[in-house]
Amino acid sequence: MQQVNGFRVVITGKGGVGKTTLTSCLARLLGQRGVKVLAADEDPQMNLPYALGMPPRQAAAIVPLSQNPDYIEEKTGARPGKSFGALFRLNPVVDDVVERFGVHVDDNLDLLVMGTVVQAAAGCLCSENVLLDSVLNYLALREEEAILLDTQAGVEHFGRALAKGFSQCLVVSDLSFNALAVARHAAELARELGIARIHLVVNRYRDEVRDKLQRFAEATGTNTDRLFDVIHTLPGESRFEDLEPDVTRILGQESAYVAALEGLADDMLAFERQRQDPSAADLKQEGSEG
Ligand SMILES: Nc1ncnc2c1ncn2[C@@H]1O[C@H](COP(=O)(O)OP(=O)(O)OP(=O)(O)O)[C@@H](O)[C@H]1O
Ligand SMILES: [Mg+2]
Repeated sequence: MQQVNGFRVVITGKGGVGKTTLTSCLARLLGQRGVKVLAADEDPQMNLPYALGMPPRQAAAIVPLSQNPDYIEEKTGARPGKSFGALFRLNPVVDDVVERFGVHVDDNLDLLVMGTVVQAAAGCLCSENVLLDSVLNYLALREEEAILLDTQAGVEHFGRALAKGFSQCLVVSDLSFNALAVARHAAELARELGIARIHLVVNRYRDEVRDKLQRFAEATGTNTDRLFDVIHTLPGESRFEDLEPDVTRILGQESAYVAALEGLADDMLAFERQRQDPSAADLKQEGSEG
């Protein structure tokens, strides 16, 4: 396989639509294809370690960066909660963060649990936020890995440094009006931030995807073709219920979900190859119709 340099993907969408399931399966799948992956968890609920199959005791012991006052103080000079009025470093150097806090999952996969600051006010300038923003900026500089950032529900986190260096956004949704409305908002923000390829990933689809999307587009005046560069569909996978929390075990099995995920991974990698080397083969325009 033609190698692809590091790239960064943010996974977003309404609560419960399948972001963490997708992130974990995609992380393993890319790893199996020889891509070095760093999966980053920005959700305060920290589901990703479990979804990646980490033993529950080990997963429960992970302390997210946002709740590591010693590291935050070491780097920013201010202890969380005590930073009001204090002087702290706005651009701390955090190039040791993966080495110190990354968890080795397998040969091609590491995990970094970041956590999210509970926002007192949007863009609050407290030492936790400064630290997490610096970590995101630092991740954007790592050349060797594909970084998959699983996020909490909603789109609030897009306001910060998060999108810097992120070339792709997977907007996960089901076909409900509410989920599509969140997806639309997320895609608009991702566009504004200059993320180059925005995927709509319709998860657990049941029937006519195009019809439902069209109905949503007409009702809301949305141009889905302009909003999303590509639309993928992932079928419902009843075995997830039995496999939970380690849903990545589905990769060893015959599954329409996995087959569709392969198509999504193909698309992402083809895009990156072309972005990194525009003289490379033309990008496939169609998404995977699982
Ligand atoms: N394609 C699918 N088929 C069947 N079940 C699925 C599918 N995708 C996800 N699920 C199930 O849906 C539930 C929610 O999935 P998941 O935790 O990945 O969503 P999420 O978007 O990360 O949620 P949250 O917003 O709470 O972080 C889980 O029980 C998961 O196993
Ligand atoms: Mg999740």
